[in-house]
Amino acid sequence: MYEIVKKKELAPDVKLFEVSAPLVAKKAEPGQFVILRPDEKGERIPLTIADFNRERGTITIIFQEVGKTTKKLGYMEKGNKILNFVGPLGCPSEIKDYGTVVCIGGGIGVAPLYPIAMALKKADNKVISIIGARNKNLLILEKEMQEISDELYITTDDGSMGHHGFVSDILKKLIDEGRKIDRVFAIGPVIMMKVISDITRGHGLKTIVSLNPIMVDGTGMCGGCRVSVGNEIKFACVDGPEFDAHLVDFDSLMRRNKRFLKEEKIAMNE
Ligand code: FAD
Ligand code: FES
Ligand code: MG
Repeated sequence: MYEIVKKKELAPDVKLFEVSAPLVAKKAEPGQFVILRPDEKGERIPLTIADFNRERGTITIIFQEVGKTTKKLGYMEKGNKILNFVGPLGCPSEIKDYGTVVCIGGGIGVAPLYPIAMALKKADNKVISIIGARNKNLLILEKEMQEISDELYITTDDGSMGHHGFVSDILKKLIDEGRKIDRVFAIGPVIMMKVISDITRGHGLKTIVSLNPIMVDGTGMCGGCRVSVGNEIKFACVDGPEFDAHLVDFDSLMRRNKRFLKEEKIAMNE
C-alpha cells in the first residue's frame, strides 16, 4: 500500500499527490511513469512521474480528473493509501547538453514536461519553455517552470493570461526570429503535438514527443499501447513513451485513444 503524504489542488480538477513509494523513487528518472490502481475494484491507469525525492522516498503525480478512475483518485485524501503503484516504467528521457532546447507543454502535459525541463537545465542547456492552457485557471506549474527556465512564455486559448492563442504561435515566432534551437520537447494533447511536429519538420528541427496511448499492463505484453512510428509498430510503454515526433502517426493515435469512449462514459455515469 502506498500512502498519499501530500495532496494539493493545482487547478479545478487537477490534483497533485506526493506518494510514499521508496522503491519507485530509488530508480525513477525524468520521462518515466507509474501504473497505479486506486483500490481492489479499480482499473489500472498510467500517470507520469512529475517529480521524485529519493531521500523522502516519494513520487509526485499530477493528474486531471477526466473520467471514473481519475475522479476516484481525486476523492482520496492525505493519509489514504493507493493499492498498487508500479514503476518506474518506460524509458527515461535522453538528457544531454543539446545547446538550446525549447520545452513545450499544453494543459496537463506541463506535468510530465517539468522534470524533463529541469533535467535539461541541470545538463547545462539553455531552456526556453512555452506552456499553455485553455484559460489561466487551468494553467499549472507556472512558478516551477519559471524557476528552471531561461525564458518562459505563457499562452491561453482565451487570452486570460499571456499570449492570446496557442503554444505553437510562440514556437513559430521564435523560429521566424531566427533563434538558435537545437531540440524541441513537446508534451500535451495529441493534436498539439501533431501541430508542433508539422511546424518543426519543415525546419529540420529534431522534436521529441511523449505519447499517451491507452495502456493496460505497461510492460510490453498486452499490445494495447501500440503506436505506429516510422511505419513500425512500437509499444509506447516499453519502447517509449518518448519518440521522434516526425515519425509518429498521430492520426492513428487519436483514433485509437477514442476507442472506448462509450464504455468510459457508462463507467463514469455509474
Ligand atoms: P476514462 O474516462 O476512462 O478515459 C478518458 C480518456 O483517457 C480516454 O478517452 C483515453 O483517451 C484515456 N485513457 C483511458 N484509460 C486509459 C489508460 N488505461 N491508459 C491511458 N489512457 C487512458 N494523465 C494525467 O492527468 N497526468 C499524467 O501525468 C499522465 N501521464 C500519462 C502518462 C502516460 C505514459 C500515459 C499513457 C497516459 C498519461 N495520462 C496522464 C493519461 C491518463 O492515464 C488518463 O487520463 C487516465 O487513464 C484516464 O482514466 P479515467 O478512468 O479517469 O478516464
Ligand atoms: Fe500493454 Fe504497452 S501497455 S504492451
Ligand atoms: Mg477509465
